[in-house]
Amino acid sequence: MVSSLLALPSTFSRLNLVQKSSIFIPFTFKALSLLEFHKQPRLRPFNYPLLHFPSSLNSPEAHFSTSRRPVSSKSFDDDLVVLGIETSCDDTAAAIVRGNGEILSQVVSSQADLLARYGGVAPKMAEEAHSQVIDQVVQDALDKASLTERELSAVAVTIGPGLSLCLRVGVQKARRVAGSFNLPIISVHHMEAHALVARLIEKELQFPFLALLISGGHNLLVLAHDLGHYTQLGTTIDDAIGEAFDKTAKWLGLDMRKSGGPAVEQLAQEGDAESVRFSIPMKQHKDCNFSYAGLKTQVKLAIASRNIDAKVPLSCASSLDRSSRADIAASFQRVAVLHLEERCERAVEWALKIEPSIKHLVVSGGVASNQYVRARLDQVVQKYSLQLVCPPPNLCTDNGVMIAWTGIENFRVGRYDPPPPANDPDDFMYDLRPRWPLGEEYAEGRSEARSLRRARVHPSLTSLVQASLQQQ
Ligand code: KG4
Ligand code: ZN
Repeated sequence: MVSSLLALPSTFSRLNLVQKSSIFIPFTFKALSLLEFHKQPRLRPFNYPLLHFPSSLNSPEAHFSTSRRPVSSKSFDDDLVVLGIETSCDDTAAAIVRGNGEILSQVVSSQADLLARYGGVAPKMAEEAHSQVIDQVVQDALDKASLTERELSAVAVTIGPGLSLCLRVGVQKARRVAGSFNLPIISVHHMEAHALVARLIEKELQFPFLALLISGGHNLLVLAHDLGHYTQLGTTIDDAIGEAFDKTAKWLGLDMRKSGGPAVEQLAQEGDAESVRFSIPMKQHKDCNFSYAGLKTQVKLAIASRNIDAKVPLSCASSLDRSSRADIAASFQRVAVLHLEERCERAVEWALKIEPSIKHLVVSGGVASNQYVRARLDQVVQKYSLQLVCPPPNLCTDNGVMIAWTGIENFRVGRYDPPPPANDPDDFMYDLRPRWPLGEEYAEGRSEARSLRRARVHPSLTSLVQASLQQQ
């Protein structure tokens, strides 16, 4: 593991490459007197590992501190102001958040029109759309917060998982801002951000907790032991639930301009959820993994057998046609969510065995904005006297706030990179992690049904953090 880490040009690859006895020389931050903060002895336990960054990136002696323990100082949190940038899929988002959790601004530029036109995300087009708006989105976030770059403390950016072409746009922008204004930069895992944003809205939410992360590309059940430390209890063996919502919407001829999920949710309210007998996926597999490819096929067949024509928009459909579409939407949603419920019940039981002190189930990611999903999962957790924590819908779907907040959580424990150079060379290799697991798989829960799509998978966030901590 260590040798592979050394080859990675990343935050965690550079951890602990310097002897602990090395001199500690923090660099100067903007707007945040971190120098003062580092001088305070109570905030500097002496077992901090040291980070070393290549001299080409900063002064030769620049070493950085990291800590296992979050720093909690009111003035530190009040002074810390982080810009978060998110471009991993089809939304270009930026936000500015204060260390105390105050959201100073939030801007999202959606590519929903492209999604509606092409029925899915086309990476090259998504990249172009990000490139066109990224400067404006970041500028709007600064303007709305009434701040300039000089008043920021750090820049956080998603480096994975996601589409490489899209991630690159955000990382380039983040490095340009950080480089030009001498700001540290924090690399963020998109799925960790979906989970941790729950800690911004629910201050009582402590580690460990269980999280169900449901979006267009991911379906994860993870046990969050600590910041950067996750056990993956389940994942999808094929498609994620959001993808199934999107395709159902497309095949039912729904308006995709706000993405497929909300359109299916709305139409489902008119339908009879018991009318179409879809079967629940993976009933025979007693694990916490998911599969939505088969349900998608069932939906497609049901639509074909009822002669529903997706080219006829819902607004032009006859009332019989409309009610038939609504029945499919409602029946699909019911079964898609039953699959979540069943897996969550098992995951709660596993999680309580591993970490008996868990008190919360966090449900986040775009699909968590669905009210039916929330209501059904609330019933599940009540059986176990746990509390459901769902961020508000605009923090469930992709957003910059979750990136800024995860940046803040990591920054507090010293997991950040120094300011990059003001301009990256043209041939600069960006550290992008399109396939980047959050945690290691729970051994007892490994599914026989797992398809083995493991090629070019980056070492998990958890393995990198653990390896760096072990070297302390
Ligand atoms: O987290 P997210 O914004 O982006 C990804 O990381 O994928 O999730 C987007 C997904 C889309 O598939 C979208 O259809 C789904 O979340 N979604 C919903 C709802 N709102 C968004 N699915 C069901 N019901 C909703 N209300
Ligand atoms: Zn997402």
